[in-house]
Amino acid sequence: MSTSIIGAPVTRVDGRAKVTGAAQYAVDHSPSNVAFGYPVWSTIGNGRIANIDTSAAERMPGVLAVLHHGNADPLFRPAERFEPYSRAGEVRPPFEDDQVYYYGQYVALVVANTFEQAQAAASAVRVEYQPRPSVVTLAAAPAPQQPPLLHYLRGNAVQAFDRAPVRIDQTYEIPTETHNPMELHATTAVWDGDRLTLYESSQGVVNHQHVMSEMMGIPVDRVTVLSPYIGSGFGGKLFPWPHSMLAAMAARRVQRPVKVQVPRDLMFTTVGHRPLTHQHVRIGATQDGKLLSIEHDVQQPTSLVDTFVENCIGVTSMLYSCPNVGTQQQLIPMNIGTPTPMRGPGIVSGLFPLESALDELAVQLKMDPLDLRLKNYAEQDESYDPPRPFSSKRLRECYQAGAEKWGWSRRTPQVGSMRRGNEIVGWGMATATWHAGRGSATVRVRLNADGTARASCATQDIGTGTYTVFAQVVAEKTGIPIDKIEVVLGDSSLPDGPTSGGSTATATVLPAVDQATQGAIGRVIAVAQQTPGSPFYPGDHAQTAGDPPKLAMTAGRIHLADRPPESGVPFGEIIAGARLAALDAEARTAPDPRDEHRYSSHSFGAQFIEVTWDPGIARLRVSRGLTVIDAGRIINQKTGRNQILGAVVMGIGMGIFEETLYDPRNAKPLNNNYSDYLVATNADVPDLDCIFVEYPDLHLNEYGARGIGEIGLAGVAPALTAAVYHATGVRVRRLPVRVENLMAGSQQKIA
Ligand code: MOS
Repeated sequence: MSTSIIGAPVTRVDGRAKVTGAAQYAVDHSPSNVAFGYPVWSTIGNGRIANIDTSAAERMPGVLAVLHHGNADPLFRPAERFEPYSRAGEVRPPFEDDQVYYYGQYVALVVANTFEQAQAAASAVRVEYQPRPSVVTLAAAPAPQQPPLLHYLRGNAVQAFDRAPVRIDQTYEIPTETHNPMELHATTAVWDGDRLTLYESSQGVVNHQHVMSEMMGIPVDRVTVLSPYIGSGFGGKLFPWPHSMLAAMAARRVQRPVKVQVPRDLMFTTVGHRPLTHQHVRIGATQDGKLLSIEHDVQQPTSLVDTFVENCIGVTSMLYSCPNVGTQQQLIPMNIGTPTPMRGPGIVSGLFPLESALDELAVQLKMDPLDLRLKNYAEQDESYDPPRPFSSKRLRECYQAGAEKWGWSRRTPQVGSMRRGNEIVGWGMATATWHAGRGSATVRVRLNADGTARASCATQDIGTGTYTVFAQVVAEKTGIPIDKIEVVLGDSSLPDGPTSGGSTATATVLPAVDQATQGAIGRVIAVAQQTPGSPFYPGDHAQTAGDPPKLAMTAGRIHLADRPPESGVPFGEIIAGARLAALDAEARTAPDPRDEHRYSSHSFGAQFIEVTWDPGIARLRVSRGLTVIDAGRIINQKTGRNQILGAVVMGIGMGIFEETLYDPRNAKPLNNNYSDYLVATNADVPDLDCIFVEYPDLHLNEYGARGIGEIGLAGVAPALTAAVYHATGVRVRRLPVRVENLMAGSQQKIA
């Protein structure tokens, strides 16, 4: 039974609630008698707190408490090294001691009757520090003592490079980028005796529940995390950050619900970021463009309290066919807040230098950059020994479909050779990839006597369309209209569901929704067969006699499997006829561990960017973009396309705007607001298009669907800088591209 609803451009089922304001976000919850917490944060980058004077703050109107390391309840560290579901953004509990590791670390929390009272009193807290020198740049950091944290080698890349007739040897840099979801991080904490409920903005309610249980030191079944709507996270809301513990701690202290919203400026220090990366790439090739060697060395800062790895070298060893590959990555602790995944972590950062170096190689070889990719196409994943087949790879079709739709054959290779009026047009392309993952999930589906259905799971919809794909699967299996299907997510007390991260949620939940729906249908059929009075009760009624008849559910009706649905009865009548309110079923699904060792699973794509450069007024614009994606089967053309186009918009930001600028003395973010930290807005976004090359990846799940939340960002920045080179002849190796890089005679320096 297959209907067209899987793959159809179904409008998101939570859309109406969001656009009408009915959707309640974390900060919208105002339990009665709620109090407000406002933080005080460190103004040094390194050192210790010598003294905190809270006396003036405590005398101010409405103040209930001022918490800090001297009077806070002890918290605990999460057991993340020992438990799968226990990852915090920062393992150090807030107020653990008097140490300061980075600018913007919480040093106190003022709790007051109103937000304004708390904010005013926070400014009256006097903190004296004993500062130590801060290390806030890679250049100032001591040389790392440990061996590289990540490394990979096949063949002899150094020797092959030395002998290669054509060589590229360049250094690239991506600055710190900060997640800027519209919705601020926020927690509303409510205690009821020893039970804790948190209204959160979380990409993983189950993980959040476990971390809070561990850090607060209370049993996990006494913690409930609710996150039904998220105003985007981009990775910044994957793991709990200290404000969540502070809200819970403060609510316990003042015996009232407490709401803590992280101000926008603190979202640049205490809730993660994409770490800056300094990346050295060397490529050796033959005169006709066959790769002989790839070397990729990365330096990445982490904080002093956590080891966060931004794996930039993960796909360098698999994206192209090449006999000699050597990669390594070194972590360098600095006085910054802990980095965290930001859309496409590692791969997005690693592809910028790799794909840029390939474009530089194409220029040096006078070869078309797309032809260079085809010449080095990887038919298997060569990072394994022996090489492993891909579960499904249609990258060649992506290149071809993209080139055709774009009109790539009209590209003339000479720098500045394509013009439109006063403007110079540049075209660039790059490969995109993202690893395809799937985890385990439990889903409950309930079929109600009133003809409606309900599906529930402790996962969440971060804006990607998770609510909608749940409804689509239930609708497809049962024939119940979408608007009669309720989907309940974002509640840790529901059956165990996955974190929304790594573009894995859809691939993870689809099989569980499918099986739970089939389980619920099976229960209705059993009731139809076994309930006296049912039209399908053997011997009782006209339709059948003897053995239980073989029944099916189609278009919301239970019917004889060999008769059309119209001959049957609505499923609700079967349930009501047995005097039941509903029938439900639960299913838990997990990937086949054998497949993980048989296949390499990745999504792929080809991305094309056009820029226009007007040298007369020094104006650079991104003027066109096309992305072709092979992510298996697309479950929803509308939300899927929305994911890809949104990621390309983010890539435009990465390419020409985004950079968190720090004061070099203490790593204070200088552009910590929406007017100084630029992201792409509508005016910066040209006509963007997206094509899906759909080949179901049935090794990953029976729907053949891989994730699509991140891959759309993967190749945008290198395609954009390739286009900038094509237009201007300036190779930008440090993001973002700035107009001053492109002024005549400018030479870019990498710090
Ligand atoms: Mo994504 S960076 O795993 O939210």
